[in-house]
Amino acid sequence: MLVNSRENEIVLITGGAGYIGSAIASTFASYKSKLILVDFDKKNLDRVKQKLNKKYKITIDTFLCDLSNQDMVNNLCQNINKKYKKIDTVINSIGMVGTDDMQGWNEKFENQSFDAWNKCMQVNLSSIFFMIQRIHKSLEKSKIASITNISSIYGVVAPDWNIYENTNINNPAAYSISKAGIVHMTKWLASALAPKIRVNAVSPGGVFRNQQKIFVKKYIDKTLLKRMAIEDDIVGPVVFLSSTSASYITGQNLIVDGGWTIK
Ligand SMILES: NC(=O)c1ccc[n+]([C@@H]2O[C@H](COP(=O)([O-])OP(=O)(O)OC[C@H]3O[C@@H](n4cnc5c(N)ncnc54)[C@H](O)[C@@H]3O)[C@@H](O)[C@H]2O)c1
Repeated sequence: MLVNSRENEIVLITGGAGYIGSAIASTFASYKSKLILVDFDKKNLDRVKQKLNKKYKITIDTFLCDLSNQDMVNNLCQNINKKYKKIDTVINSIGMVGTDDMQGWNEKFENQSFDAWNKCMQVNLSSIFFMIQRIHKSLEKSKIASITNISSIYGVVAPDWNIYENTNINNPAAYSISKAGIVHMTKWLASALAPKIRVNAVSPGGVFRNQQKIFVKKYIDKTLLKRMAIEDDIVGPVVFLSSTSASYITGQNLIVDGGWTIK
């Protein structure tokens, strides 16, 4: 088995200020990889950078960018391509998620809006596609190039409405459909970018974030491993798929859900 050290590997993480993105960043920081974190949340981006700098004393570049904005994506990619001779690893953890407060988003079917739908497609799908389109030449310069996209179990199965009953949590159609889009975009990109760049997806189940008790109970009842996920459950599979241990894996979707989707 070919396992390389990940020291000095150049790792770009979108959504790097988020819960899962920053947990992935922290693991790569512990390997002494060189991190490029992209997000539009300045406060959290600065906080993650400071924390990892202090703990691991490594090089971290942060880019503040709304990845749903084409001009900003163009700018970002120009800067990154200029600054880095190559990129080894891209992890896409960006996402318009359930907690976003846009009107017409976390709503029942009847109230889901056209604008929230379009925004979701831009954030969850177009952002990743057009960023990769603009940086793939830099990835091709790496001998270990890979892209790992974070989808969701809802990109694979339809919601069980029972777990949402009597809660303030919804399951917007655009979220699921964009996440299914990520699974297919992963295959499309894997075929378009082979053999130089491997492209895979990881589809997490629900991560525990102090959701309403009634939701958590019903969620756990449906899960073979009898708990919701924690961020670190997602990190390992992402680290694996982006490593040389997975050098013969491309176009795949690894479901990380405690067994939720097998029933
Ligand atoms: N939390 C879960 O239960 C769960 C389950 C399955 C899949 N996922 C997926 O995992 C990924 C990470 O989720 P998370 O739980 O860490 O959520 P999160 O909200 O903490 O992370 C998402 C990050 O994306 C950033 N972002 C959003 N829109 C952006 C934009 N336009 N430009 C730049 N950055 C933007 C946010 O600022 C945030 O830092 C997402 O793709 C999410 O859909 C999460």
